[in-house]
Amino acid sequence: MSELLEVHDLTVHFATEDGLVEAVDNVSFSVRPGEILGVVGESGSGKSVTAHALLRLIRPPGRIVRGEIRFEGADLLALPEARMGAVRGARIALVFQSPRTALNPVLTVGRQIARLYELHQHVAPAEAWRRTIEMLTLVGIAEPERRARQYAHQLSGGMCQRVMIAMAIASSPRLLIADEPTTGLDVSIAAQILDLLRALGRRTGASIVLITHDLGVVAEACDRVAVMHAGQLVEIADVHTLFKRPLHPYTQALVRSIPRIDREVAMEPIPGAVPSLLAPAPGCRYADRCARVLEVCRRERPVLRAAGASHEVACHAVEVESGTAVR
Ligand SMILES: Nc1ncnc2c1ncn2[C@@H]1O[C@H](COP(=O)(O)OP(=O)(O)O)[C@@H](O)[C@H]1O
Ligand SMILES: [Mg+2]
Repeated sequence: MSELLEVHDLTVHFATEDGLVEAVDNVSFSVRPGEILGVVGESGSGKSVTAHALLRLIRPPGRIVRGEIRFEGADLLALPEARMGAVRGARIALVFQSPRTALNPVLTVGRQIARLYELHQHVAPAEAWRRTIEMLTLVGIAEPERRARQYAHQLSGGMCQRVMIAMAIASSPRLLIADEPTTGLDVSIAAQILDLLRALGRRTGASIVLITHDLGVVAEACDRVAVMHAGQLVEIADVHTLFKRPLHPYTQALVRSIPRIDREVAMEPIPGAVPSLLAPAPGCRYADRCARVLEVCRRERPVLRAAGASHEVACHAVEVESGTAVR
């Protein structure tokens, strides 16, 4: 199956007063048509910077230092800005974490959606409004006619997130990037939003990149999972394999840290903190937190290698233990 999105060696740096923040380091992954790929990692692991880089939304002092982003056959990093503008929003849409602040406070939510139809699909105002009501119905908003005439501050957090999703899919994107779409929502509303994303993915055939710090969300909604730690992608696998046979010590720690009532052993916090990304040491950025650290880990950055069908891991210890070490 050919991929919808292919990312190779994506590297993003921020030149700050304190020095170079190496926020995203050599990240490679792909997104298949119609799948939901989870991107998971603790806060500060480079998930949002990766998402922004995909849309070329990194602003100075940030810079995409190298890498390749292929989407629908085009090399996004080589596109002129005008053509990138057409990709952004129309072919790839982004749903932000805090929907209330992302919505325009002085326009009704219906007006904001209708404007998209008028602008991008060149339809008359009456038709744009009809499609807006249809879209609000599709994302599960009750009494859409009344809600469309309200402002963001009159809606609950869950409803604002539904409106944001409606805006994101109004242009029928092929890829929807949702950055922590359920963070800050209560558990039952969060579950409804995940159900909605899944249903929309199935209905429209769009792929979804679902960014979260919560492995529970991944288990609930995703087909495959990419695990990020300190700006590096350390493991990628289908969701079943990731939970059943996590290979990277960080993924194993993440899985052990999920609270579960059916677990016999208590949940364990992940040792240590995400290291500073300011001029990080060479080698594996998990080395200082890792119980299986080897001497090579502090010297050489491990690269992603196949560890089974639909399973890749970047870990020297795994390579040594499985006898696949190249050294
Ligand atoms: N504008 C910026 N200037 C400097 N550093 C930044 C900037 N934006 C993000 N970073 C750094 O990039 C790293 C990754 O951040 P981010 O992608 O937001 O993490 P996540 O979304 O996984 O929580 C963090 O160390 C953060 O401090
Ligand atoms: Mg983030």
